[in-house]
Amino acid sequence: MEINNAPQKKRALSFIQSSGMFTLGNYLGAVKNWNNMQEEFECVFGIADLHSITVRQDPATLRKQIYSAAAMLLSTGLDPEKSLIFMQSHVAAHSQLAWILNCYTQFGELSRMTQFKDKSQKHSDNVNAGLFTYPVLMAADILLYKPDLVPVGADQKQHLEIARDIAKRFNGIYGDVFTIPEPYIPPIGAKVMSLQEPEKKMSKSDENENAKILLTDSPDAIMRKFKRAVTDSEARVCVGENKPGINNLIEIYSCITGKTADEITAEFEGKGYGDFKLSVGEAVVEELRPVQEKYNMYISDKAQLEKIYKEGAEKAQYVARKTLSKVMKKVGYVL
Ligand code: TYM
Repeated sequence: MEINNAPQKKRALSFIQSSGMFTLGNYLGAVKNWNNMQEEFECVFGIADLHSITVRQDPATLRKQIYSAAAMLLSTGLDPEKSLIFMQSHVAAHSQLAWILNCYTQFGELSRMTQFKDKSQKHSDNVNAGLFTYPVLMAADILLYKPDLVPVGADQKQHLEIARDIAKRFNGIYGDVFTIPEPYIPPIGAKVMSLQEPEKKMSKSDENENAKILLTDSPDAIMRKFKRAVTDSEARVCVGENKPGINNLIEIYSCITGKTADEITAEFEGKGYGDFKLSVGEAVVEELRPVQEKYNMYISDKAQLEKIYKEGAEKAQYVARKTLSKVMKKVGYVL
């Protein structure tokens, strides 16, 4: 698709890391919404492969994961005719703007990021500077393309706030350079929880395979994981306090079927958790069936993938370079 610096439609932008196969959380909280935005918005979607190396990666595995991420984005419905789809590392302006923005970001504000605190605890042997400045690169990803809306799951809210703060600070010094983006956090599905520890979010990096549904999981694996999902000792399918497991399953089912929590409670009145878990599993299997069929096709056609992400990068570069040049001029560089 064509993209220019004065879009007719409003622009939406988001990225996803290539640090492992996407989970049902990534899908319901983010990617499924991206798909639905393609008609109304001019869309920019990227694979955040630079962000992925804040945690140590095996090169061969990373390469495979980047391809898988590209194939999966297309399989969930992103259409290169409608949206710009590319890899972050192919557009040098992301790293260049990140450096500049680093100098307009305070140590104190980065220290408050909960994801940094969590990840530096989890990877205490590798608390690298990239992990610390990660939100600045994310701010660069966003601000280069001047989006109106950034659709993300709830866990990215804090990062989006800092991106807005950096943009406002920069604009305050140099005039109107950046658009201040609004977050879009979906009313349901914004925080899909672990199936084993439902007080924690479902995460790609969880070592317990039963805690997460991967978009490539077989129907058998999906059913098995839902059957084993941790719930409580009550038996009524309804939203409630101290029922994080059931609340999570209701939210997943609601997100896929479009039914409200009350409708779900009515549907399962008189039935136990066992029946409900089977229905949630079946709904997820059916939702993912067409996605998996397309994935198998895209992942076996590297030439087509390469054509799509290279064309995407070329168009992205055009937009990104324009914003970067403006920033450089404002800061005082000789162009
Ligand atoms: P990442 O790769 O961790 O996640 C990608 C998207 O999936 C959402 N998400 C979830 N939503 C609901 N429930 C969950 N359990 C769940 N887990 C993840 C995330 O909120 C996100 O929207 N830093 C970002 C990637 C990024 C980015 C950007 C995003 C880089 N540059 C610019 C927006 C704009 C990240 O690590 O997302």
